[in-house]
Amino acid sequence: MAKPHSVYRCTECGHDHPKWVGKCEACGAWNTVAEEPIAVSRGGKGGKGGGGGRTPAGPAPARLRDIEESRLIRWSTGLPELDFVLGSGIVPGSMTLVGGEPGIGKSTLLLQAAARLEAAGRRVLYASGEESPEQIRLRADRLEEEAGAVHVLGETRLEAILDAAQTLGADLLILDSIQTVYTDLLESAPGNVGQVRECAARLMRFAKETGAAVIVVGHVTKGGGIAGPKTLEHIVDTVLYFEGEATLDHRLLRATKNRFGSVDEIGVFSMTGHGLEPVANPSALFLAARATGTSGSAVTALMEGTRPMLVEVQALASRSGFGTPQRVATGLDHKRLAVLLAVLERRGGTSFADLDVFVQVTAGVRLTEPGSDLAVAAALLSSVLNRPAPPDAVFLGELGLGGEIRPIGGLERRLVEAARLGFRRVFVSGRTSSQVSGLTLVGLDHVDRLVQALAA
Ligand code: TYD
Ligand code: MG
Repeated sequence: MAKPHSVYRCTECGHDHPKWVGKCEACGAWNTVAEEPIAVSRGGKGGKGGGGGRTPAGPAPARLRDIEESRLIRWSTGLPELDFVLGSGIVPGSMTLVGGEPGIGKSTLLLQAAARLEAAGRRVLYASGEESPEQIRLRADRLEEEAGAVHVLGETRLEAILDAAQTLGADLLILDSIQTVYTDLLESAPGNVGQVRECAARLMRFAKETGAAVIVVGHVTKGGGIAGPKTLEHIVDTVLYFEGEATLDHRLLRATKNRFGSVDEIGVFSMTGHGLEPVANPSALFLAARATGTSGSAVTALMEGTRPMLVEVQALASRSGFGTPQRVATGLDHKRLAVLLAVLERRGGTSFADLDVFVQVTAGVRLTEPGSDLAVAAALLSSVLNRPAPPDAVFLGELGLGGEIRPIGGLERRLVEAARLGFRRVFVSGRTSSQVSGLTLVGLDHVDRLVQALAA
């Protein structure tokens, strides 16, 4: 049967093909051809299901000051950490993508949010192509929240899901996952680039037109991106990633895109036998497994958005077997590590030339700000010197290429957090002056002072 509703279009040059091909006939690019519905991509021509004809008049533009403030309300999910990362709750009419590796807890998180929203009087539809309603019920039974009122639907056809959401008058539609749904408009299989993109665009339109919020789950590929096209991230309003390590119970939720809030904030949860629990004191959790008294460990305080968090940096420098020494960094940019090693070598007089170097940040946290340089340097030096850093010390400073130690921003809040967790000494730039009761600041101007301090 001929199906004239869709076309296979090259995403590079726009050339149309009657069927899928691996290589575009026009521009020769590989794997760029994706299915697209003709009705959508060709504007009025053809029309959706014969609707055709003139485009109806759209809404008139309005002045900004006339926009009702009620449109700026947000719905609390009842999970403070999730609200926090979203930017104080869900925005009606918005679309959020929650990405993460399989088994990390995306479905659990969203079912908990669904239960709490329902308890707060919001109507929630949880549509799943991943699990049957019976399986969802089993999961719900494990949770502490009462999820009985949440509507569930085991369905993968997008049109059916949107119909159900509309009939139900859902305030929030949760779709688990975008890779399992398909639209009738396209022939290709669910999860296919064209399908994912078209379904996402239709969901976005649904959100904007009905004012309902949409949250979709997206699987993450080995490369770290959400499977399907990158365009998915461009379409939605907010992208959240749920991360964690298989061996650890805690999970980090972070926003990588947020049209309604900051992208710096992270939320911390712990996976328990009865669902995810917000972690009120992440620093204590991150430092819980710290082995004091061993070399190669240093603590720093990061600013994750507006919240200070203490984490441990671990380094191990060991004699290299053969060939080029290895440099392995987990939770830290490789290039930053290379810079710090070069500074320690040239300005601090400590050679890593024939040493393999491994650096990791515990608890799956990533160091993104230069304020953690001093802690990385301290961990590296401590490992080479084979001397533990003082167990009650925190390191806060940026390292310049000249070996100078520079002050960092947000110091006060980091210091308060350090004092709260029982730390007594803080190694900082010599140009820093600050006072927090219970803390002694040790000012260092240059990296060679750090070497002396650790060797002492
Ligand atoms: P899940 O939400 O299914 O992950 P995702 O949707 O991201 O694939 O979480 C699955 C894991 O979480 C699974 O290994 C079981 C575990 N889990 C708990 O430890 N406690 C619980 O209360 C629940 C519901 C799940
Ligand atoms: Mg799931």
